[in-house]
Amino acid sequence: MTSLTLRRPDDWHLHLRDGDSLRAVLPFTARQFARAVVMPNLKSPVTTVDAAAAYRERILGALPAGAAFEPLMTLYLTDATSGDEIRKAKASDFVVGAKLYPAGATTNSDSGVTAISRIYPALEAMESCGLVLQVHGEVTSPDVDVFDRETRFIDEVLVPVIERFPRLKVVFEHVTTRAAVEFVRSRRENVGATLTPQHLLLNRNAMFQGGIRPHLYCLPVLKREHDRQALLEAATSDDPRFFLGTDSAPHARHAKENACGCAGVFSAHAAIELYAEAFEQAGRLPQLEAFASLRGPDFYGLKPNTGTITLVRDQWQPPAVYRFGDAELVPFRAGEAIAWRIDDSRTS
Ligand code: DOR
Ligand code: ZN
Repeated sequence: MTSLTLRRPDDWHLHLRDGDSLRAVLPFTARQFARAVVMPNLKSPVTTVDAAAAYRERILGALPAGAAFEPLMTLYLTDATSGDEIRKAKASDFVVGAKLYPAGATTNSDSGVTAISRIYPALEAMESCGLVLQVHGEVTSPDVDVFDRETRFIDEVLVPVIERFPRLKVVFEHVTTRAAVEFVRSRRENVGATLTPQHLLLNRNAMFQGGIRPHLYCLPVLKREHDRQALLEAATSDDPRFFLGTDSAPHARHAKENACGCAGVFSAHAAIELYAEAFEQAGRLPQLEAFASLRGPDFYGLKPNTGTITLVRDQWQPPAVYRFGDAELVPFRAGEAIAWRIDDSRTS
């Protein structure tokens, strides 16, 4: 296959940041994706519908001229999120979900949820009004091994939540383990999962290949090859519950190449191309459209996009760095070959 045309995709999990950083990264996403679920973990988290509306306006204001892109917003759940705020979110036409960050699990999660029972009122409201729960699925206690945090979260948090709120729509975000894939498969259609390009393409060896590789450090951290194989099988299968969410998470180069480096892989510059490589590896390139463009909207109850993008087999190399406000941003696969590229002249 030398070219592949697919319905315009959406990114169901994306970090855009704010200010100059937002302006630096947004064009990459808007070039490929028609819509994206924009994560609310700003330095001052997006905990209310009013804050989400203001952030949405800043995103729209940062779009390059002529770009057609719709930010889909999500609220950052805290111990104090009320049922009223959830109903207000559902009544808006731009908030599609609310995000559970266990406090301390990842970047800007300090205001996150300290015990799952604290958000039962919010979850009850979400279940009854049909707002999607997006989950960062890792336990945080320091005695749990970092590679076991996702698996432990399934038993300790996710199972109790799903059993208590059986009609709640849940997206287990950026799943990284075979156990998570098996868990999603074992549940009803209202439990889905997103998958990132880095977790489909790499196992944890990549983080230590020839020395420590801070630009491949993200959370949840890369796992074993045995896990990667399960993720690739799930993404490329016909199961409608697995869909695209890049978790593209830009941090300035100096914040990653640091004695205490930030978590996050920036992949928005080449997202669909990277997924194409993974699907091709699995011999399942024709399934890319379902994963990237159809199953996400279906899960969220939205229509698929009408336009198309076309990928061509034509090698290119991302640069060593992109500008990122006053700083630099090192993209995934900097200076390395990527097999597919988007032919912008065939975007409709
Ligand atoms: O690697 C990550 N980076 N994982 C997250 O959960 C958050 C993200 C970020 O915001 O940088
Ligand atoms: Zn994320």
